[in-house]
Amino acid sequence: MAGYVDMSVKPQIYVSQWDFQGSSPQEISFKTGDRFQVLEKSGDWWKAVKLDGHGCQVGKNGHVPYNYLVEEGTVEEQPWFFGEVSRNEAVSMLMKEGNQTGSFLVRISGKKEFLYALSVRAQDTVKHFRIMQNSKGKYYLNNVIPFPDLNHLISAYHEKNVSQGLILTTPCAKNEPVAYDLSPVPLDEWERPKEEFTLTRKLGSGNFSDVYEGCWNGRVQIKVAIKTIKQGVTNTEIFIKETAFLKTLRHRNLLSLYAICSVGDPYYIVTELLPKGDLLKYLRGIEEDEVKVDGLMDIAVQVAEGMRYLESKKCIHRDLAARNILLSQNNICKIADFGMARIIKDDYYVTMSKEIPFKWTAPEAIGFGRYTIKSDVWSFGILLHEIMSLGMIPYPEIQNGKLLQFLKQGHRLQAPPRNCSKKLYDLMLDCWNENPHKRPSFEELKAKLESLANYDLTDASPKQP
Ligand SMILES: Nc1ncnc2c1ncn2[C@@H]1O[C@H](COP(=O)(O)OP(=O)(O)O)[C@@H](O)[C@H]1O
Ligand SMILES: [Mg+2]
Repeated sequence: MAGYVDMSVKPQIYVSQWDFQGSSPQEISFKTGDRFQVLEKSGDWWKAVKLDGHGCQVGKNGHVPYNYLVEEGTVEEQPWFFGEVSRNEAVSMLMKEGNQTGSFLVRISGKKEFLYALSVRAQDTVKHFRIMQNSKGKYYLNNVIPFPDLNHLISAYHEKNVSQGLILTTPCAKNEPVAYDLSPVPLDEWERPKEEFTLTRKLGSGNFSDVYEGCWNGRVQIKVAIKTIKQGVTNTEIFIKETAFLKTLRHRNLLSLYAICSVGDPYYIVTELLPKGDLLKYLRGIEEDEVKVDGLMDIAVQVAEGMRYLESKKCIHRDLAARNILLSQNNICKIADFGMARIIKDDYYVTMSKEIPFKWTAPEAIGFGRYTIKSDVWSFGILLHEIMSLGMIPYPEIQNGKLLQFLKQGHRLQAPPRNCSKKLYDLMLDCWNENPHKRPSFEELKAKLESLANYDLTDASPKQP
């Protein structure tokens, strides 16, 4: 087989959807419509070279932000195709100014039964439809009319009703990606001088740190979150662990790290800013009469997805709780606060450290300091309870010192007073199985939560005119 070349692998050509002004020597500037051959996809910045009208390379190789580009000739090129956005995100985007009844988008649902979903604004609500595929690979919204591809399906429903009186009009307005959605990963600029940052307002504080809103006056002027950590023996250790850990992870449901300053006291960890703040505050701000169980379930699914990613990376978080989940403007949940997280080699991590969030921690971790991904599953169960109870404190009547005994006697948190089906409470109880091996994995949890969520309602069999 020597000398065999696989001719089936075509170079991947991408087209830019927006203008981009590169500012470091390795970043390529480009205009909307420019074409690229992508040479290497790693992290947020892809190695690429620009092409001219004849497909010849222009200039040197460099780095381009992945989220400005779409693959040529694919459905991604369509203005209505939004890729992997959650149902909740779709709702917040469609409800924004600039959209009206009939504005729509197609998103990847991430489900086995149907790959794509169509979300359409109908006055003050958003309706969601499953896009099914038949055995011949054709797409349909209802069994009657299959279409060869998504383009045909979408064009047809500009004239036919998707549901009573509702037709598709214009694609949902898309936000231009911003440079600070990106990490400087391949550019190797993690360590930055402190002078580049100004702290503007305190956002919160925890055991070892204060967190501020701030400004990064570096390569671009952007708002960021800055976690300041006081130096000290343990704190140095925490700092190094937290940043080393964050640098290796990238996922839409995890907080992204931009930079660190490790010179002088205090240290800085600079991350993306999530102005909506933490999930606990958000839950406690919801009025009882405006609870949307759908929205709560969507949050749970997103956290499970972020944890599934951590699970796949052999990481344990050890401090999973609503106070450590942050919310973006479009209700994307991001797992944050990796101060206690560890990468594990032997499936477990043992520590006798007493600084633990007792009420979120599994009995084997409280008792024997034994942490595994299954002790995170226990904490996830408590977090589910926080979500469905809108931020109730777990076991308010029990002191930390008495908790282990209480759990050993077989007691568990009661079902949340409202919003929680029997099946969902059973899932919490599964997370709190005394035997860690009998608790579900995050992969299973995500799948179960999705099936419970009735995630995509289909406004079934719309009547055709
Ligand atoms: N990136 C961020 N954007 C907005 N608020 C944040 C951000 N990071 C942290 N916070 C706020 O600060 C609080 C403490 O942050 P956290 O990382 O959990 O620190 P600690 O390790 O001290 O608990 C969070 O609960 C949240 O309210
Ligand atoms: Mg915290």
